[in-house]
Amino acid sequence: MTQAKAIYLDPPAGFEHIIVGTAAVAPPGPGEITVRIRASSLNYHDYAVVSGRRSLTERRIPMADGAGEVTAVGPDVKAFSVGDHVVSTFFPTWHEGEPRLSDFATVPGDGVDGFAREAVTMPQDCFTLAPRGYSHAEAATLTTAGLTAWRALFVDGALKPGETVLVLGSGGVSVFALQFAKAAGARVIATSSSDDKLDRLQALGADCLINYRKTVQWGEAVREMTDGAGAEHVIEVGGAATLDQSMTAARVGGHIAVIGSLGNATAPITVTQLLRKHLRLTGLLVGSRRHQLDMVRALDATGIRPVIDRHFPLEAMADAFRYQASNQHVGKIVLDI
Ligand SMILES: NC(=O)c1ccc[n+]([C@@H]2O[C@H](COP(=O)([O-])OP(=O)(O)OC[C@H]3O[C@@H](n4cnc5c(N)ncnc54)[C@H](OP(=O)(O)O)[C@@H]3O)[C@@H](O)[C@H]2O)c1
Repeated sequence: MTQAKAIYLDPPAGFEHIIVGTAAVAPPGPGEITVRIRASSLNYHDYAVVSGRRSLTERRIPMADGAGEVTAVGPDVKAFSVGDHVVSTFFPTWHEGEPRLSDFATVPGDGVDGFAREAVTMPQDCFTLAPRGYSHAEAATLTTAGLTAWRALFVDGALKPGETVLVLGSGGVSVFALQFAKAAGARVIATSSSDDKLDRLQALGADCLINYRKTVQWGEAVREMTDGAGAEHVIEVGGAATLDQSMTAARVGGHIAVIGSLGNATAPITVTQLLRKHLRLTGLLVGSRRHQLDMVRALDATGIRPVIDRHFPLEAMADAFRYQASNQHVGKIVLDI
């Protein structure tokens, strides 16, 4: 047993309850691997845990995303070797098939200890290989944000080339969705609060841009940009702030991936619009290990690289989350460990 640096949150959490300590790292048993964690990335969910919005009842190592290098393997482990670069999975017990989990009880950084630490020994199924040539920081962006965008478009949405995808805002999930959709031959309409950020989204391939502060009825603007038809797919991250406009923006028979609630979680729904347009609203929570394996294979094939806005050292976690909350970023924010 060795000790490695770890960040803990004491209940009920909050930035003032972040503590630097150590955690024990056991040698790997059967089916286990030890990973030197090199990076994690920030998600809104992690922000809710660390800032204390989701109240903790026991001491916890935060952060759902982890990427690093395998330093030891258990006696019967065949899928990984020492030196492999790996990335963690969001639901360590959801390997494949239909979702069966409806909470965060098994999720690292929430129900169980996460990856704000230098090393960990876990069952091998808690990781997949990282895409070839990725830095650890790039790999660490995939567990939550990358996989959520992947599942929304390709698993639940069955995106086809030539279809139109609407992405809301310039955060981690939306930027991944933009990149995936372009690689799949889709047309992308992107919204943002800022013209500077829209320039960044255009450089990443967005075909049409809307500043939602200036164009409040942006659902109608999406319809105009699609000759009155609307978008086949909406990456809905705004919740109450945006759902009604998203339904206006969607085409008849369109798919709205209901992912986030940046602007509050409870939204009034215009039921007549929902049924009149045959809309399909799918709630989703990240994805399975199988989905992650498929995504990594696609990243190997396409060469897509994650957009990282800024790096912070692990010890500056509170500053990193304050930066995220300021909404200045485009894409992902990473902790180097
Ligand atoms: N269901 C899941 O599995 C899952 C997985 C990951 C994330 N999420 C959720 O998805 C949401 C986004 O997560 P993220 O990690 O991408 O967050 P993030 O990186 O922090 O993105 C935040 C960005 O979203 C935009 N935004 C903020 N408020 C908005 C609003 N009311 N309407 C439209 N855009 C708004 C802003 O960009 P602009 O300034 O460019 O507008 C902001 O910079 C969060 O609610 C998160 O909890 C869900």
